[in-house]
Amino acid sequence: MQDFEGRVAVVTGAASGMGLAFSQKFAAEGMKVVLADIEAEPLAMAEGAIKAKGGDVLAVRTDVMSEADVNALADAAFARYGNVHILCNNAGVTASASSLRSRPWEVPLSDWEWTFGVNFMGVLYGIRAFIPRMLANGDEGHIVNTASLAGMLSAANPYNVSKHGVVCLTEGIYKEFKTMGSKLSASVLCPGLINTAILEAERNRPAELGHTDEAALRPELQEFTAMFKAALSLGIEPDVVAQMVFEAIRDDQFYIIPTQPEMLDLMRLRMQDIIEQRNPTIPELALLQAQAAQ
Ligand SMILES: NC(=O)c1ccc[n+]([C@@H]2O[C@H](COP(=O)([O-])OP(=O)(O)OC[C@H]3O[C@@H](n4cnc5c(N)ncnc54)[C@H](O)[C@@H]3O)[C@@H](O)[C@H]2O)c1
Repeated sequence: MQDFEGRVAVVTGAASGMGLAFSQKFAAEGMKVVLADIEAEPLAMAEGAIKAKGGDVLAVRTDVMSEADVNALADAAFARYGNVHILCNNAGVTASASSLRSRPWEVPLSDWEWTFGVNFMGVLYGIRAFIPRMLANGDEGHIVNTASLAGMLSAANPYNVSKHGVVCLTEGIYKEFKTMGSKLSASVLCPGLINTAILEAERNRPAELGHTDEAALRPELQEFTAMFKAALSLGIEPDVVAQMVFEAIRDDQFYIIPTQPEMLDLMRLRMQDIIEQRNPTIPELALLQAQAAQ
């Protein structure tokens, strides 16, 4: 997609982190922007900030776990602007450290339901609500689904598994568009560590899907959370990712992988394990074995 000025972008999870950075970037490129997020107050602030810079913006409070909400978002976007050219299915959550570090058979089912509800079903509802109308309008356009490097690395927790689904779904959509000769295209965003509020996602967890009391977690899980938060705070800034996303849409680049080099090494190792039909390498164990051999 080459022309951005005056065209329309919809971003979910737009009130914070990467979604906010995408929205600001699109507005700066002269696009009309529809902001969707579950958090009303930060959403209004994001809308106000873009308006203050002269942007044409519409904010729609949306819970992407709800198909009705996502359909209403599409209705609002098409009613206001007549078409949508860029859709960023970006809203995502991770349950607390206990879900990332516990044995998969012990992770509460509600962690799986919530994480899949937002990270996978939210994306699926987005593509079902928007793509048919974007195709019908016949303009060029682009879908960007936010997965994660976790979607390329195996770990049996709800976050990684849901993000694998997003990678697979988006690759399939890309192939479908190209086979059809469509003017739409797609990219999958697989970030490594980015400096955002993702580890505070529990604040948006629906009450009926439980709540993890971080303060009550085992000390080693609290330590893991603190370490993870510290690593994220040193991560890549969201506006750097926004620039990469913008360029990927412009250049029709499918994989967008803003990440630390050591995480790319882990991805490479996993891909090689699969291609060479080796059993999965466990990096922590491999490191210990290498140290023991010295
Ligand atoms: N930060 C990272 O290191 C990292 C790495 C890889 C992938 N990601 C992914 O990037 C995406 C954006 O996250 P972020 O890092 O900017 O975090 P963030 O917490 O700053 O932003 C996520 C936004 O999604 C919104 N949201 C949460 N649940 C929602 C729901 N049900 N409906 C609508 N909106 C909802 C939140 O209110 C928030 O504004 C997510 O999909 C996340 O999984 C993040």
